[in-house]
Amino acid sequence: MKNSGIRTINDFKKCKVEKRFISMVTCYDAAFARIVDKSDMDCILVGDSCGMVSAGYESTIPVTVDEIIYHTKAVKRGSGNQFVITDLPFLSYHESPEAAVRNAGRIIKETGANAVKLEGGEYFAETVRTLVSCSIPVMGHLGLTPQSVNITGGYRVQGKDPKDAERMKRDAKILEEAGCFSIVLEMVPETLAREISESLSIPTIGIGAGRYCDGQVLVIYDLLGMDENFNPKFMRKYANLGGVIHSALNEYVADVKTGAFPGVENVF
Ligand code: KIV
Repeated sequence: MKNSGIRTINDFKKCKVEKRFISMVTCYDAAFARIVDKSDMDCILVGDSCGMVSAGYESTIPVTVDEIIYHTKAVKRGSGNQFVITDLPFLSYHESPEAAVRNAGRIIKETGANAVKLEGGEYFAETVRTLVSCSIPVMGHLGLTPQSVNITGGYRVQGKDPKDAERMKRDAKILEEAGCFSIVLEMVPETLAREISESLSIPTIGIGAGRYCDGQVLVIYDLLGMDENFNPKFMRKYANLGGVIHSALNEYVADVKTGAFPGVENVF
């Protein structure tokens, strides 16, 4: 399917109405953003997964507002006209709707991102309403919410228990009513993700949430196969960049050791 030409939040709803799947990928720097911009991708998420993937943290919890601003500015420099959503870091929106406006406002003003994403349901309804009233578009995020890993006790499928499933369905409705333009569903059973997607007029973007979401998102390093040992069930690798980079590096080292590099064509 071709790029659905997402430029504003209205295009997300349009995709849903016209039954066009939305493709989203995470991105953390200008080099990858330039490549994504040349692809058919619909939109970019500067996920706080940058903390794990790029900075090597154990979780997304340590990511700061300054760090997400750094990554989002870099992505925006490389991403042309792509619609860019950026994550609100842990504890940058929990304290109060006012704190959320202060932090999200700073992020949007300094980076030029088009929207923010936050994790959580009913508890954040007032925050979503306030952000949207201040003209800051918000994407929701339900199911596995990595910023809550210390409460949920791990990165596992959420909503298997009927009570949890009911709560997630209610949370999705509440987020839609509060003004979210889209909701990420992460690690949710396919039947539940389908029910939620069919109950909303805004699109759901799934990761580990099956085939019936209105779009899909993957972490760019995962789909490109940077880590041969990371193979979760929900993921598909479209390349083996880790292997390609490994071979390229060893080839370079061998050329240096044998004196084959630099060659005559590299000399001034
Ligand atoms: O931080 C992130 O990359 C995300 C996606 C996995 C949805 O939130």
